[in-house]
Amino acid sequence: EAPSLEARYEESFNIGAAVEPYQLDGIQGEVLKRHYSSIVAENVMKPINIQPEEGTFNFEEADKIVQFAKENDMELRFHTLIWHSQVPEWFFLDKNGNQMVEETDPKQREKNKKLLLKRLEKHIKTVVKRYKDDINSWDVVNEVIDEYAPNDRGLRESPWYQIAGDDYIKVAFETARKYAGEDAKLYINDYNTEVEPKRTYLYNLVTDLLEQGVPIDGVGHQSHIQIGWPSLQETEESINMFAELGLDNQITELDVSLYGWPPTPAYDTYEDIPAFEFERQADRYDQLFELYERLDDKISNVTFWGIADNHTWLDDRAEDYNNGVGKDAPFVFDIDYNVKPAYWEIID
Ligand code: G3I
Repeated sequence: EAPSLEARYEESFNIGAAVEPYQLDGIQGEVLKRHYSSIVAENVMKPINIQPEEGTFNFEEADKIVQFAKENDMELRFHTLIWHSQVPEWFFLDKNGNQMVEETDPKQREKNKKLLLKRLEKHIKTVVKRYKDDINSWDVVNEVIDEYAPNDRGLRESPWYQIAGDDYIKVAFETARKYAGEDAKLYINDYNTEVEPKRTYLYNLVTDLLEQGVPIDGVGHQSHIQIGWPSLQETEESINMFAELGLDNQITELDVSLYGWPPTPAYDTYEDIPAFEFERQADRYDQLFELYERLDDKISNVTFWGIADNHTWLDDRAEDYNNGVGKDAPFVFDIDYNVKPAYWEIID
Protein backbone atom coordinates (compact mmCIF):
# COMPACT_ATOMS: atom_id res chain seq x y z
CA GLU A 1 0.00 0.00 0.00
CA ALA A 2 1.10 3.55 -0.77
CA PRO A 3 2.57 5.26 2.30
CA SER A 4 0.68 8.18 3.82
CA LEU A 5 1.66 11.66 2.64
CA GLU A 6 0.92 13.32 5.95
CA ALA A 7 3.05 10.78 7.81
CA ARG A 8 5.91 11.36 5.37
CA TYR A 9 5.95 15.09 6.20
CA GLU A 10 4.88 14.86 9.83
CA GLU A 11 8.18 16.25 11.10
CA SER A 12 8.08 19.16 8.66
CA PHE A 13 4.60 20.57 8.07
CA ASN A 14 0.95 19.66 7.75
CA ILE A 15 -0.25 18.40 4.37
CA GLY A 16 -3.64 19.77 3.41
CA ALA A 17 -6.32 19.66 0.73
CA ALA A 18 -9.11 22.01 -0.34
CA VAL A 19 -12.50 20.33 -0.30
CA GLU A 20 -16.15 20.78 -1.10
CA PRO A 21 -18.50 19.22 1.50
CA TYR A 22 -19.62 16.48 -0.90
CA GLN A 23 -16.03 15.25 -1.12
CA LEU A 24 -15.95 14.20 2.53
CA ASP A 25 -17.78 10.91 1.93
CA GLY A 26 -16.77 7.66 0.31
CA ILE A 27 -13.42 7.11 -1.30
CA GLN A 28 -12.47 10.80 -1.25
CA GLY A 29 -13.07 10.91 2.50
CA GLU A 30 -10.82 7.87 2.89
CA VAL A 31 -8.04 9.46 0.82
CA LEU A 32 -8.35 12.61 2.91
CA LYS A 33 -8.11 10.75 6.20
CA ARG A 34 -5.15 8.70 5.09
CA HIS A 35 -3.02 11.28 3.35
CA TYR A 36 -3.86 14.72 4.74
CA SER A 37 -3.59 16.31 8.16
CA SER A 38 -5.29 19.59 7.26
CA ILE A 39 -8.28 20.74 5.21
CA VAL A 40 -9.70 23.99 3.90
CA ALA A 41 -13.01 24.80 2.21
CA GLU A 42 -12.61 25.38 -1.52
CA ASN A 43 -15.70 27.60 -1.61
CA VAL A 44 -18.20 27.28 1.23
CA MET A 45 -16.52 29.58 3.74
CA LYS A 46 -16.35 32.53 1.35
CA PRO A 47 -18.56 35.55 2.12
CA ILE A 48 -21.00 34.85 -0.71
CA ASN A 49 -21.83 31.50 0.84
CA ILE A 50 -21.66 32.50 4.51
CA GLN A 51 -23.62 35.77 4.33
CA PRO A 52 -25.46 35.85 0.98
CA GLU A 53 -27.81 38.55 2.24
CA GLU A 54 -27.10 41.12 4.88
CA GLY A 55 -27.71 39.58 8.28
CA THR A 56 -28.56 36.14 6.89
CA PHE A 57 -25.77 33.77 7.86
CA ASN A 58 -25.61 30.31 6.38
CA PHE A 59 -23.21 27.95 8.14
CA GLU A 60 -24.65 24.61 7.13
CA GLU A 61 -22.10 23.66 4.46
CA ALA A 62 -19.18 25.17 6.35
CA ASP A 63 -20.15 23.21 9.46
CA LYS A 64 -19.82 19.92 7.58
CA ILE A 65 -16.17 20.66 6.93
CA VAL A 66 -15.57 21.76 10.51
CA GLN A 67 -17.20 18.56 11.73
CA PHE A 68 -15.06 16.36 9.48
CA ALA A 69 -11.87 18.05 10.65
CA LYS A 70 -12.87 17.57 14.28
CA GLU A 71 -13.85 13.94 13.90
CA ASN A 72 -10.60 13.13 12.18
CA ASP A 73 -8.36 15.29 14.28
CA MET A 74 -7.24 17.42 11.34
CA GLU A 75 -6.09 21.00 11.22
CA LEU A 76 -8.48 23.46 9.63
CA ARG A 77 -7.62 26.54 7.59
CA PHE A 78 -10.28 29.20 7.11
CA HIS A 79 -10.60 30.57 3.55
CA THR A 80 -11.47 33.42 3.45
CA LEU A 81 -12.80 36.25 5.58
CA ILE A 82 -12.36 39.04 3.02
CA TRP A 83 -11.95 38.83 -0.78
CA HIS A 84 -12.95 40.92 -3.80
CA SER A 85 -14.38 37.89 -5.58
CA GLN A 86 -17.26 35.69 -4.40
CA VAL A 87 -18.48 38.53 -2.22
CA PRO A 88 -22.17 39.43 -2.37
CA GLU A 89 -23.10 42.72 -3.99
CA TRP A 90 -24.97 44.06 -0.93
CA PHE A 91 -21.69 44.78 0.88
CA PHE A 92 -21.06 47.62 -1.56
CA LEU A 93 -24.55 49.14 -1.86
CA ASP A 94 -25.57 52.11 0.26
CA LYS A 95 -28.86 52.27 2.18
CA ASN A 96 -30.64 53.44 -0.98
CA GLY A 97 -29.30 50.59 -3.05
CA ASN A 98 -26.75 52.69 -4.93
CA GLN A 99 -23.22 51.55 -5.72
CA MET A 100 -21.02 53.14 -3.07
CA VAL A 101 -18.04 53.22 -5.42
CA GLU A 102 -19.89 55.75 -7.57
CA GLU A 103 -20.51 58.25 -4.77
CA THR A 104 -18.74 61.57 -5.35
CA ASP A 105 -19.91 63.69 -2.41
CA PRO A 106 -17.09 63.69 0.18
CA LYS A 107 -19.43 63.65 3.20
CA GLN A 108 -21.43 60.78 1.83
CA ARG A 109 -18.23 58.95 0.91
CA GLU A 110 -17.09 59.22 4.51
CA LYS A 111 -20.40 57.73 5.65
CA ASN A 112 -20.14 54.94 3.08
CA LYS A 113 -16.70 54.04 4.29
CA LYS A 114 -18.00 53.74 7.85
CA LEU A 115 -20.90 51.61 6.69
CA LEU A 116 -18.65 49.26 4.73
CA LEU A 117 -16.20 48.85 7.62
CA LYS A 118 -19.10 48.17 9.97
CA ARG A 119 -20.31 45.41 7.65
CA LEU A 120 -16.80 44.00 7.40
CA GLU A 121 -16.48 43.96 11.18
CA LYS A 122 -19.84 42.30 11.65
CA HIS A 123 -19.04 39.61 9.10
CA ILE A 124 -15.66 38.84 10.65
CA LYS A 125 -16.97 38.98 14.21
CA THR A 126 -19.84 36.58 13.50
CA VAL A 127 -17.71 34.04 11.65
CA VAL A 128 -14.73 34.18 13.98
CA LYS A 129 -16.80 33.85 17.14
CA ARG A 130 -18.48 30.77 15.74
CA TYR A 131 -15.33 29.00 14.62
CA LYS A 132 -12.52 30.34 16.77
CA ASP A 133 -11.96 27.07 18.63
CA ASP A 134 -11.95 25.04 15.40
CA ILE A 135 -9.65 26.99 13.12
CA ASN A 136 -5.86 26.82 13.18
CA SER A 137 -5.13 29.48 10.58
CA TRP A 138 -7.24 32.19 9.02
CA ASP A 139 -6.97 33.76 5.60
CA VAL A 140 -8.01 37.20 6.78
CA VAL A 141 -7.63 38.95 3.44
CA ASN A 142 -7.15 37.32 0.07
CA GLU A 143 -5.51 38.80 -3.05
CA VAL A 144 -5.27 42.43 -1.94
CA ILE A 145 -2.28 42.99 -4.22
CA ASP A 146 -2.70 43.56 -7.95
CA GLU A 147 0.51 44.23 -9.83
CA TYR A 148 -1.47 45.93 -12.58
CA ALA A 149 -3.27 48.35 -10.25
CA PRO A 150 -2.94 52.01 -11.22
CA ASN A 151 -1.39 53.00 -7.87
CA ASP A 152 2.26 52.83 -6.90
CA ARG A 153 1.72 50.41 -4.01
CA GLY A 154 0.16 47.69 -6.12
CA LEU A 155 -2.98 47.68 -3.99
CA ARG A 156 -5.93 46.04 -5.71
CA GLU A 157 -8.55 48.67 -6.48
CA SER A 158 -11.47 46.46 -5.54
CA PRO A 159 -14.68 47.96 -4.15
CA TRP A 160 -13.18 47.45 -0.68
CA TYR A 161 -10.30 49.71 -1.61
CA GLN A 162 -12.32 52.20 -3.62
CA ILE A 163 -14.77 52.73 -0.76
CA ALA A 164 -12.55 52.34 2.32
CA GLY A 165 -8.98 52.88 1.08
CA ASP A 166 -6.34 50.58 2.51
CA ASP A 167 -7.92 50.82 5.99
CA TYR A 168 -10.08 47.77 5.31
CA ILE A 169 -7.00 45.54 5.50
CA LYS A 170 -5.97 46.81 8.89
CA VAL A 171 -9.51 46.70 10.27
CA ALA A 172 -9.93 43.14 8.99
CA PHE A 173 -6.83 41.91 10.85
CA GLU A 174 -7.65 43.85 14.01
CA THR A 175 -11.19 42.51 14.09
CA ALA A 176 -10.02 38.96 13.48
CA ARG A 177 -7.50 39.25 16.31
CA LYS A 178 -10.04 40.78 18.66
CA TYR A 179 -12.45 37.87 18.34
CA ALA A 180 -10.10 34.98 17.57
CA GLY A 181 -7.69 35.70 20.41
CA GLU A 182 -3.93 35.89 20.72
CA ASP A 183 -3.30 32.28 19.76
CA ALA A 184 -5.07 32.51 16.40
CA LYS A 185 -2.80 32.52 13.36
CA LEU A 186 -3.71 35.26 10.89
CA TYR A 187 -2.56 35.20 7.26
CA ILE A 188 -2.47 37.48 4.27
CA ASN A 189 -2.97 35.21 1.27
CA ASP A 190 -2.11 35.82 -2.39
CA TYR A 191 -0.99 34.29 -5.69
CA ASN A 192 2.22 34.98 -7.66
CA THR A 193 3.93 35.80 -4.36
CA GLU A 194 7.19 34.41 -5.76
CA VAL A 195 7.56 36.80 -8.65
CA GLU A 196 8.36 40.47 -9.09
CA PRO A 197 6.87 42.97 -8.87
CA LYS A 198 4.11 41.34 -6.84
CA ARG A 199 6.45 39.90 -4.24
CA THR A 200 7.86 43.34 -3.42
CA TYR A 201 4.44 44.97 -3.35
CA LEU A 202 3.32 42.35 -0.86
CA TYR A 203 6.51 42.64 1.17
CA ASN A 204 6.18 46.42 1.39
CA LEU A 205 2.54 46.23 2.40
CA VAL A 206 3.24 43.64 5.09
CA THR A 207 6.21 45.60 6.43
CA ASP A 208 4.10 48.72 6.59
CA LEU A 209 1.25 46.93 8.38
CA LEU A 210 3.62 45.33 10.88
CA GLU A 211 5.15 48.73 11.64
CA GLN A 212 1.65 49.99 12.42
CA GLY A 213 1.20 47.08 14.81
CA VAL A 214 -1.35 45.26 12.66
CA PRO A 215 -1.59 41.65 13.86
CA ILE A 216 -0.33 39.48 10.99
CA ASP A 217 1.25 36.10 11.71
CA GLY A 218 2.03 34.84 8.28
CA VAL A 219 1.89 34.90 4.52
CA GLY A 220 -0.16 32.41 2.52
CA HIS A 221 1.44 31.61 -0.83
CA GLN A 222 -1.32 30.23 -3.03
CA SER A 223 1.19 28.62 -5.40
CA HIS A 224 -0.99 28.04 -8.45
CA ILE A 225 2.07 27.18 -10.45
CA GLN A 226 3.24 25.50 -13.64
CA ILE A 227 5.85 22.91 -14.42
CA GLY A 228 8.40 25.51 -15.51
CA TRP A 229 7.26 28.57 -13.57
CA PRO A 230 8.08 30.24 -11.23
CA SER A 231 11.69 29.27 -10.56
CA LEU A 232 12.77 27.48 -7.40
CA GLN A 233 15.10 30.36 -6.65
CA GLU A 234 12.27 32.92 -6.66
CA THR A 235 10.19 30.59 -4.53
CA GLU A 236 12.95 30.21 -1.96
CA GLU A 237 13.71 33.94 -1.90
CA SER A 238 10.08 34.76 -1.27
CA ILE A 239 9.78 32.38 1.66
CA ASN A 240 12.99 33.72 3.16
CA MET A 241 11.93 37.36 2.76
CA PHE A 242 8.80 36.87 4.83
CA ALA A 243 10.48 34.59 7.34
CA GLU A 244 13.03 37.34 8.00
CA LEU A 245 10.14 39.58 9.06
CA GLY A 246 9.39 36.99 11.73
CA LEU A 247 6.39 35.62 9.84
CA ASP A 248 5.27 32.07 9.18
CA ASN A 249 4.78 30.88 5.60
CA GLN A 250 2.09 28.52 4.38
CA ILE A 251 1.66 27.07 0.92
CA THR A 252 -2.10 27.42 0.70
CA GLU A 253 -3.43 26.45 -2.74
CA LEU A 254 -0.80 24.32 -4.43
CA ASP A 255 -1.40 22.87 -7.87
CA VAL A 256 1.04 22.26 -10.72
CA SER A 257 -0.71 22.87 -14.04
CA LEU A 258 0.52 20.97 -17.09
CA TYR A 259 0.07 24.15 -19.11
CA GLY A 260 1.59 27.58 -19.46
CA TRP A 261 -0.26 30.86 -19.48
CA PRO A 262 -2.66 31.09 -21.19
CA PRO A 263 -3.37 27.34 -20.93
CA THR A 264 -3.46 26.69 -24.63
CA PRO A 265 -3.41 24.29 -26.31
CA ALA A 266 -4.70 21.81 -23.72
CA TYR A 267 -5.32 18.06 -23.97
CA ASP A 268 -9.00 17.38 -24.55
CA THR A 269 -9.42 14.53 -22.08
CA TYR A 270 -7.45 12.84 -19.31
CA GLU A 271 -6.78 9.84 -21.54
CA ASP A 272 -5.12 12.15 -24.08
CA ILE A 273 -2.43 13.23 -21.63
CA PRO A 274 0.81 11.36 -22.48
CA ALA A 275 2.92 9.75 -19.76
CA PHE A 276 5.85 12.10 -20.33
CA GLU A 277 3.73 15.00 -19.02
CA PHE A 278 3.29 13.20 -15.72
CA GLU A 279 7.04 12.53 -15.58
CA ARG A 280 7.85 16.22 -16.09
CA GLN A 281 5.33 17.10 -13.43
CA ALA A 282 6.83 14.53 -11.06
CA ASP A 283 10.27 16.18 -11.42
CA ARG A 284 8.74 19.51 -10.60
CA TYR A 285 7.02 18.15 -7.48
CA ASP A 286 10.25 16.43 -6.49
CA GLN A 287 12.21 19.68 -6.59
CA LEU A 288 9.47 21.64 -4.93
CA PHE A 289 9.07 19.35 -1.93
CA GLU A 290 12.82 19.08 -1.56
CA LEU A 291 12.82 22.86 -1.24
CA TYR A 292 9.88 22.95 1.17
CA GLU A 293 11.50 20.31 3.32
CA ARG A 294 14.78 22.20 3.40
CA LEU A 295 12.88 25.33 4.50
CA ASP A 296 10.56 23.49 6.85
CA ASP A 297 11.31 25.69 9.85
CA LYS A 298 9.77 28.54 7.84
CA ILE A 299 6.73 26.68 6.47
CA SER A 300 3.99 25.25 8.69
CA ASN A 301 1.50 23.94 6.15
CA VAL A 302 1.47 22.78 2.51
CA THR A 303 -2.08 22.58 1.16
CA PHE A 304 -3.11 21.35 -2.29
CA TRP A 305 -6.06 23.13 -3.93
CA GLY A 306 -7.94 19.85 -4.30
CA ILE A 307 -7.46 16.14 -3.71
CA ALA A 308 -7.20 14.38 -7.06
CA ASP A 309 -7.22 15.17 -10.78
CA ASN A 310 -10.95 14.52 -11.11
CA HIS A 311 -11.79 17.85 -9.47
CA THR A 312 -9.78 21.00 -10.12
CA TRP A 313 -10.66 24.62 -10.85
CA LEU A 314 -7.94 24.48 -13.53
CA ASP A 315 -10.29 22.47 -15.76
CA ASP A 316 -12.58 25.51 -16.02
CA ARG A 317 -9.59 27.55 -17.05
CA ALA A 318 -8.41 25.01 -19.65
CA GLU A 319 -11.94 24.81 -21.07
CA ASP A 320 -12.38 28.58 -21.19
CA TYR A 321 -9.24 29.05 -23.27
CA ASN A 322 -9.80 26.08 -25.57
CA ASN A 323 -13.39 26.55 -26.76
CA GLY A 324 -14.96 24.54 -23.99
CA VAL A 325 -12.73 21.44 -24.20
CA GLY A 326 -9.67 20.87 -22.02
CA LYS A 327 -8.42 18.88 -19.06
CA ASP A 328 -5.68 19.66 -16.57
CA ALA A 329 -4.09 17.24 -14.10
CA PRO A 330 -2.35 19.21 -11.34
CA PHE A 331 -2.29 16.83 -8.36
CA VAL A 332 -0.44 13.76 -7.12
CA PHE A 333 -3.54 11.52 -7.29
CA ASP A 334 -5.17 10.74 -10.65
CA ILE A 335 -8.86 10.93 -11.59
CA ASP A 336 -9.47 7.54 -9.91
CA TYR A 337 -7.51 8.48 -6.75
CA ASN A 338 -4.56 6.30 -7.73
CA VAL A 339 -1.09 7.64 -7.01
CA LYS A 340 0.80 9.35 -9.84
CA PRO A 341 4.56 9.56 -10.51
CA ALA A 342 4.53 12.90 -8.64
CA TYR A 343 3.29 11.13 -5.54
CA TRP A 344 6.27 8.75 -5.49
CA GLU A 345 8.67 11.63 -5.98
CA ILE A 346 7.37 13.50 -2.96
CA ILE A 347 7.30 10.37 -0.85
CA ASP A 348 10.95 9.66 -1.69
O1 G3I B 1 -22.34 26.87 -6.70
C1 G3I B 1 -22.63 27.20 -8.06
C2 G3I B 1 -23.66 26.26 -8.64
O2 G3I B 1 -24.87 26.41 -7.95
C3 G3I B 1 -23.84 26.57 -10.14
O3 G3I B 1 -24.69 25.64 -10.71
C4 G3I B 1 -22.48 26.52 -10.85
C5 G3I B 1 -22.59 26.90 -12.33
O4 G3I B 1 -21.41 27.47 -12.79
O5 G3I B 1 -21.60 27.41 -10.23
C6 G3I B 1 -21.36 27.11 -8.87
O6 G3I B 1 -20.46 28.04 -8.35
C7 G3I B 1 -19.12 27.88 -8.75
C8 G3I B 1 -18.28 27.66 -7.51
O7 G3I B 1 -16.91 27.64 -7.86
C9 G3I B 1 -18.62 26.35 -6.81
O8 G3I B 1 -18.37 25.26 -7.66
C10 G3I B 1 -18.68 29.14 -9.48
O9 G3I B 1 -19.38 29.26 -10.72
C11 G3I B 1 -17.20 29.10 -9.73
O10 G3I B 1 -16.80 30.36 -10.25
C12 G3I B 1 -16.47 28.85 -8.44
O11 G3I B 1 -15.10 28.79 -8.73
C13 G3I B 1 -14.22 28.86 -7.63
C14 G3I B 1 -13.34 30.09 -7.75
O12 G3I B 1 -12.43 30.13 -6.66
C15 G3I B 1 -14.15 31.37 -7.74
O13 G3I B 1 -13.35 32.47 -8.06
C16 G3I B 1 -13.36 27.62 -7.61
O14 G3I B 1 -14.17 26.47 -7.35
C17 G3I B 1 -12.27 27.74 -6.54
O15 G3I B 1 -11.36 26.69 -6.69
C18 G3I B 1 -11.52 29.06 -6.71
O16 G3I B 1 -10.59 29.15 -5.68
C19 G3I B 1 -9.72 30.30 -5.73
C20 G3I B 1 -9.38 30.67 -4.31
O17 G3I B 1 -10.56 30.90 -3.56
C21 G3I B 1 -8.48 31.90 -4.24
N1 G3I B 1 -7.31 31.72 -5.04
C22 G3I B 1 -7.55 31.30 -6.44
C23 G3I B 1 -8.39 30.03 -6.47
C24 G3I B 1 -8.58 29.56 -7.89
O18 G3I B 1 -9.31 30.47 -8.66
